[in-house]
Amino acid sequence: CSAGGDEKTVVIGLAADSGCGKSTFMRRLTSVFGGAAEPPKGGNPDSNTLISDMTTVICLDDYHSLDRTGRKEKGVTALDPRANDFDLMYEQVKAIKEGVAVDKPIYNHVTGLLDPPELIKPPKILVIEGLHPMFDERVRELLDFSIYLDISNEVKFAWKIQRDMAERGHSLESIKASIEARKPDFDAYIDPQKQYADAVIEVLPTQLIPDDNEGKVLRVKLIMKEGVKNFNPVYLFDEGSTISWIPCGRKLTCSYPGIKFTYGPDTYFGNEVSVLEMDGQFDRLDELIYVESHLSNLSTKFYGEVTQQMLKHADFPGSNNGTGFFQTIVGLKIRDLYEQIVASRAGAPVTAAKA
Ligand code: ADP
Ligand code: G6P
Repeated sequence: CSAGGDEKTVVIGLAADSGCGKSTFMRRLTSVFGGAAEPPKGGNPDSNTLISDMTTVICLDDYHSLDRTGRKEKGVTALDPRANDFDLMYEQVKAIKEGVAVDKPIYNHVTGLLDPPELIKPPKILVIEGLHPMFDERVRELLDFSIYLDISNEVKFAWKIQRDMAERGHSLESIKASIEARKPDFDAYIDPQKQYADAVIEVLPTQLIPDDNEGKVLRVKLIMKEGVKNFNPVYLFDEGSTISWIPCGRKLTCSYPGIKFTYGPDTYFGNEVSVLEMDGQFDRLDELIYVESHLSNLSTKFYGEVTQQMLKHADFPGSNNGTGFFQTIVGLKIRDLYEQIVASRAGAPVTAAKA
């Protein structure tokens, strides 16, 4: 069952460590394409896949070649390439991209076992999210766009505590130990993938509060590679200039410690990039329109679309700071990229969305 030449699936890679906001990002992304993504109907209730009209999101944990017991026996973590089947990942992503449905395995996070496979039909947009979307060169080549969520250790720790302690009942010690145990493999196999990403969202502690160690106020950088096909980086005021902007004043309510934006060119792993940074948090989401109106190349379809998306998902984690803001912007850029790819295939002149 091939979908034919014009209907090739656009493939997006999203890499991050677990507990770093991939699912939240996916919810923002699928919302930009209209409609929430749902697990496959009538399938395995432990499936990790999410499907909407336009997008299918698959979790790369499904390509674990070793199950939980196997990993324990061999003494390897889920981050270790030896616990993952990159040949199968490559074959299946390639097949989907070419319009061919595949029987993808399911890693059951509840049992730690590999369940019988599920059928994945080629969607318009396939997102592969997980630990290793850019690890294998062959898989990397299949990606039309790639994103890395780079959460600094301090912030990762704060989030993990929030989720694993508050929601899953783990102890502080066990969370610390599990982060420490993963670190060597994270540094060896996950982190290096960021050099290949077209966009990196880097999340750091704030610089607005001296010696802050709470990890509540965040400094977030959106690092956008220059020269990527169908992707024009967002800019603040004047493309290519170096800008520092504190928008707090008459138009934006800012309580302590305020908000600071910076923008400018930089290099990242030897590549030319544009970096937009936001430190601090919003008091009132509806006032985001003021910030939005000063940014260009947002790929919105109407004035205020970023703000509208943010307001729609005000309850998602990160909605009051740069994490949610930049994830939403990247979502819009991906929609634009998709539309440009489709338009160029159809041979129609490409009219980039105005912003
Ligand atoms: P993943 O899919 O990578 O495992 P999730 O999106 O489920 O990550 O997020 C895991 C947890 O991290 C959330 O429950 C939340 O506590 C925290 N988190 C994620 N994104 C943010 C954010 N932008 N700001 C604050 N906390 C966040
Ligand atoms: C999944 C996650 C990993 C996590 C693992 C748990 O594969 O993506 O991030 O570490 O499950 O594995 P464990 O060996 O602890 O069962």
